[in-house]
Amino acid sequence: DRKIPHTFVIFGASGDLAKKKIYPTLWWLYRDDLLPKPTKFCGYARSKLTIEKLKENCKQYMKVQAHEVDKYDEFWDLNEYVAGNYDGRTGFELLNQQLELMENKNRANRIFYLALPPSVFDEVTVNIKNICMSTCGWNRVIVEKPFGRDDVSSKALSDHLAGLFSEEQLYRIDHYLGKEMVQNLMTIRFGNKILSSTWNRENIASVLITFKEPFGTQGRGGYFDEFGIIRDVMQNHLLQILSLVAMEKPVSCHPDDIRDEKVKVLKSIAALELKDMVLGQYVGNPQGRTEDERTGYLEDETVDKNSTTPTYALAVLHINNERWQDVPFILRCGKALNDRKAEVRIQYHDVPGDIFEGNSKRNELVIRVQPGEALYFKMMTKTPGITFDIEETELDLTYEHRYRGFYLPDAYERLILDVFCGSQMHFVRSDELCEAWRIFTPILHRIEKERIKPIPYLYGSRGPKEANRKCEENNFKYYGSYKWHGNRST
Ligand code: BG6
Repeated sequence: DRKIPHTFVIFGASGDLAKKKIYPTLWWLYRDDLLPKPTKFCGYARSKLTIEKLKENCKQYMKVQAHEVDKYDEFWDLNEYVAGNYDGRTGFELLNQQLELMENKNRANRIFYLALPPSVFDEVTVNIKNICMSTCGWNRVIVEKPFGRDDVSSKALSDHLAGLFSEEQLYRIDHYLGKEMVQNLMTIRFGNKILSSTWNRENIASVLITFKEPFGTQGRGGYFDEFGIIRDVMQNHLLQILSLVAMEKPVSCHPDDIRDEKVKVLKSIAALELKDMVLGQYVGNPQGRTEDERTGYLEDETVDKNSTTPTYALAVLHINNERWQDVPFILRCGKALNDRKAEVRIQYHDVPGDIFEGNSKRNELVIRVQPGEALYFKMMTKTPGITFDIEETELDLTYEHRYRGFYLPDAYERLILDVFCGSQMHFVRSDELCEAWRIFTPILHRIEKERIKPIPYLYGSRGPKEANRKCEENNFKYYGSYKWHGNRST
């Protein structure tokens, strides 16, 4: 079957996502001989572009090494580009002719990547279905967020897509599902007795899932202001992590068994309430080193001057099932903070019956998604030497040390390859999406309708102080005494 030609079509080929992520990913997969042969690529967008111009647009993101130049040119030789409108049939007919030409009118499998604004989504998918589908190979369609902006619009989109394609043909990307440590969550949990038997309310006090970025909207203010941090990061990336941390053990590693469990745990989560949230919006830091750091969210030209869109959010979710009742799951995410980081912290209860005069600190399992993949377990030890004091230390699995020199592919590389292989394990199913919106829609509507004012926080800070208080109130203890040594480069 690998001999059948594949054609990869990129809609929105002239856009930001295509040049920064899709073309580079396709090149890396080609470079590493991971794609089936032959595979050809065809871009489609409204702008009249040549392959030369497209190549130029992508250049700075492709990371081509000197010794790869020939192969790089080979990659572009496999590319075509068709300019056309998103509405009407004409452009799509042209595109289909081009695809047939590339496939020599042979049997071929086609992948359609929709890197498009939501406004043209409906028309494009109808045109693909009517005009561009391969008639004797398989067809797969990759879609990117936003998958609507609330439960109603998301359902309309899901229904629209379901009218055109089967669920097996649809690949909804949440690129966090392509990250090494997110993919590792299943193994960590279900491949280790010591963890699987403590993974419950009897042992775990709270779970904290964090996403931080040290930059603001960076020219994406127009998009961001309409969506906000809750839709941009929390409702998708962080909730996906939560469901992998909290779900029951699936019957097998089959993609549908896993997704069945993810849906089930989401169903046990009540819709969010305002009392369980902290919202923030960054303001410029007058002491900032760069212009960007001195610029507040509301000073971004593309953002409404009176915007109440949050750029920071913390939410406490409660899972009403036998495993997790009374264990707060705290999700927090923000732009323009002090650091770039994504991690999960599983904090265990205090040891009952203390004999160490209150000096013992809680165990914590930290799963560092980025930067620098790591898994470490904070634990107490006797201070070495002639003493009976105790102190915090760690069992440390830092990838940089343990797996030195390993190549960890980018999330998009894994996910696009999965589409070629037909594996939906790391893609979002429509019922998962529906549950995610059920949890977040009421609060999003309330925030927008009542124009709830976010708390201002300084660009480059740790976010609003109220968020720390919320963590404390929800059984997450921060001691401030522990320093992780994992990233030292020895
Ligand atoms: C995207 C969000 O989905 O994820 C961006 O739209 C965010 O706002 C990005 O910056 C973060 O992805 P990563 O892989 O850089 O952590």
